[in-house]
Amino acid sequence: MRFFGIHAPDIGIDLGTSNVRVYVKGKGIVIDEPSLLVVRGDASREVLAVGEDARLLLGRTPGDIRTVRPVRDGVIVDFEMSEIMLHYFIRKAVGSHYILRPRVVISVPCAISTVERRAVDEAVRMAGARAIQVVEHPLAAALGTGLPVYEPEGSLVVDIGGGTSEIAVISLGGLVVSRSLRVGGDKMDEAISAMFKKDHNMLIGERAAEDLKLDLGGAVVHADDARRAMVRGRDMVTSLPMTVEITAQKISEALQAPIGEIIGAIKWVLERTPPELAGDIMRSGIYLMGGLAQLPDLDHLIASEIGISVSVARNPAQSVILGAGHLADNIELLDSIGKGDAMRD
Ligand SMILES: Nc1ncnc2c1ncn2[C@@H]1O[C@H](COP(=O)(O)OP(=O)(O)OP(=O)(O)O)[C@@H](O)[C@H]1O
Ligand SMILES: [Mg+2]
Repeated sequence: MRFFGIHAPDIGIDLGTSNVRVYVKGKGIVIDEPSLLVVRGDASREVLAVGEDARLLLGRTPGDIRTVRPVRDGVIVDFEMSEIMLHYFIRKAVGSHYILRPRVVISVPCAISTVERRAVDEAVRMAGARAIQVVEHPLAAALGTGLPVYEPEGSLVVDIGGGTSEIAVISLGGLVVSRSLRVGGDKMDEAISAMFKKDHNMLIGERAAEDLKLDLGGAVVHADDARRAMVRGRDMVTSLPMTVEITAQKISEALQAPIGEIIGAIKWVLERTPPELAGDIMRSGIYLMGGLAQLPDLDHLIASEIGISVSVARNPAQSVILGAGHLADNIELLDSIGKGDAMRD
């Protein structure tokens, strides 16, 4: 006999540029998959695979089959595909044997426009939510890291993901000063590709650029680093395949410009932080999260450029979803950040 529950559990969603994560109340994180679909055709697109299944097909698909990344720089750029992807993940997370659909706490970038926010709201609703509340990434990340978000105490959170860097000072459950940059892991991958074009007249794939960042990249260029890699790509002049040997220094050098922009934004936020809260941050330090928090030496570089110590969150790429999940576990907390109304049944 099949059991039909009435209420689907409340869920948290982090709809990221690189990854989608879903947290189910009482269970924890049940989905952590690439933000990706594989489709066939152009006008009427047939979805062949979503998430991890889509990633496994990357680069192995024939002519009319291609990959779609429906979220760029933290916001929905392909509404139809976002809705299909969210529907797939929500069903996968909670199943379909409930009469009442789930309530969803979803985190979004803090500089999102009204139109972009409405797109998220609509996509999540069409994907099967009955009530939705959005929460800004830095607030969710701070909650997910166990910072004293509701206290009259300043915390500085830096979340660097695939598409965005979100920097915010949080106190009393709200963002006091914040800055959202459309610079993150993707821009670093692009900087690596641009370096190959400029220095070697060579085109490399998105995936190859990301792999080089993960394998050889770092925030600081070490002169004594002897690591090298052979990179395959296409000659821009002849269009023929070519191979180049690259050093770790060259990869890290390519990352300097985007990293510089992020550090500039952290300074911008600190310059606008009220002195009492700045004093708290001097004492407690900066909290670094998002996938890029794992880039070697990034924490040390930020600490030395800003002059404040930096701690990397324990599971940095999961801080945001743990925070959204914490709110899904305790929906009544939305009242303390002034967002309870939307979730009433
Ligand atoms: N060990 C690592 N070192 C450096 N970068 C990493 C590492 N692991 C993952 N990344 C990078 O982190 C990025 C993904 O981070 P994350 O999952 O936080 O992004 P996201 O939440 O999907 O994106 P956003 O929040 O910007 O919309 C990718 O660019 C990936 O290459
Ligand atoms: Mg993120």
